[in-house]
Amino acid sequence: MPESPCLVIDLNRVRANYRALHAALPTARIRFAVKASPVPEIIRLLNDEGAEFDVASIGEIELCIAQGVDPAVMCYGNPIKKASQIATAYAAGVRRYAFDTEDDLERIAEHAPGSEVECRFLASAPASQTPFGTKFGCAPGEAVHLLVRANDLGLKVVGPYFHVGSQQLDPIAWKIGIEQAAAITEALAVKDIPVTAVNIGGGLPISYADAAPGIDELGTVIAHAAATLLPEHTHLVVEPGRALVGNTGVIHAEVVNVRTAPDGRRWVYLDIGRYNGMAETENEYIAYRFQTDRDADPMDEVVIAGPTCDGDDVLYQRTRVLLPTTLRAGDSVRILETGAYTASYSSVSFNGFPPLTVHVSGAERE
Ligand SMILES: Cc1ncc(COP(=O)(O)O)c(C=O)c1O
Repeated sequence: MPESPCLVIDLNRVRANYRALHAALPTARIRFAVKASPVPEIIRLLNDEGAEFDVASIGEIELCIAQGVDPAVMCYGNPIKKASQIATAYAAGVRRYAFDTEDDLERIAEHAPGSEVECRFLASAPASQTPFGTKFGCAPGEAVHLLVRANDLGLKVVGPYFHVGSQQLDPIAWKIGIEQAAAITEALAVKDIPVTAVNIGGGLPISYADAAPGIDELGTVIAHAAATLLPEHTHLVVEPGRALVGNTGVIHAEVVNVRTAPDGRRWVYLDIGRYNGMAETENEYIAYRFQTDRDADPMDEVVIAGPTCDGDDVLYQRTRVLLPTTLRAGDSVRILETGAYTASYSSVSFNGFPPLTVHVSGAERE
């Protein structure tokens, strides 16, 4: 095993996840949100499988191009972008953009003329485990106005787009979003602007310490809502990150120290923390599962912390996490389902710790 800590990704599971999602939503185009795991081998594998790519920055566009991805299958999905970034993306061949403000729309019209556009609206969905709040998305009524404006500006209207928040546990969220997208579609049809696709975003959950609904259940709700609410021939685009890669990774870490604090709580300090891969433990949103070689020993509640001198570098102090009472410095700890939003989040050198290293196993090509 490479030096601890490190993330090991199983490429075979990435392929299996892609195919399972394709089977659950056979008519939807699958667009991988690169930010979830910008690993070259994963991008090449998904490109071979026929995926599209949601890119958030010039860095992700360049990464995908370097892996042989045709810019024609990329969508610059980040609604926050400078004019210069749009121009660079356009020069690289990207012809699809998402937006949620008139300002950004005008920048797209000027610097990426004639491109396809999707308008992100804020769906009235229940909150997810790692919610976006109101950071993104215009009001649904505003989306109609903005897509009409897009059409006037000579852009190609694709349709409405929503994201119900990452790790969304309630399948009804997509039904609500599709209902609202259908109303936008109808209002545009009245103005003779046909919607060709509805982007239902990411947010598809995976099971961590708590079980999440499976892809088949979600697929049934989404397919039923689309078939009953959207006009025939409207494509679906699904934009998953976590659901394609989350359960494909295991972090191999090590116990650095164990102590009993003055308040009597047992603290376990690992060589991985909030700043070198475990960013999604912020607010204890994501409850990862831990495995050790001593799991047959008696278990007791612990606080789990990272290795830096930062007071916020604590993974769990409210979530109930049990680890063996015999655990000691030098023991290895495996943190499961850590394939999404881990390595790419790690800081370059906070407290002098290097970013989390990534290793892949399994076959890139079948
Ligand atoms: C624009 C966009 N699309 C898709 C995703 C993927 O979301 P998830 O990993 O929840 O599927 C994200 C995540 O932040 C996003 O910002």
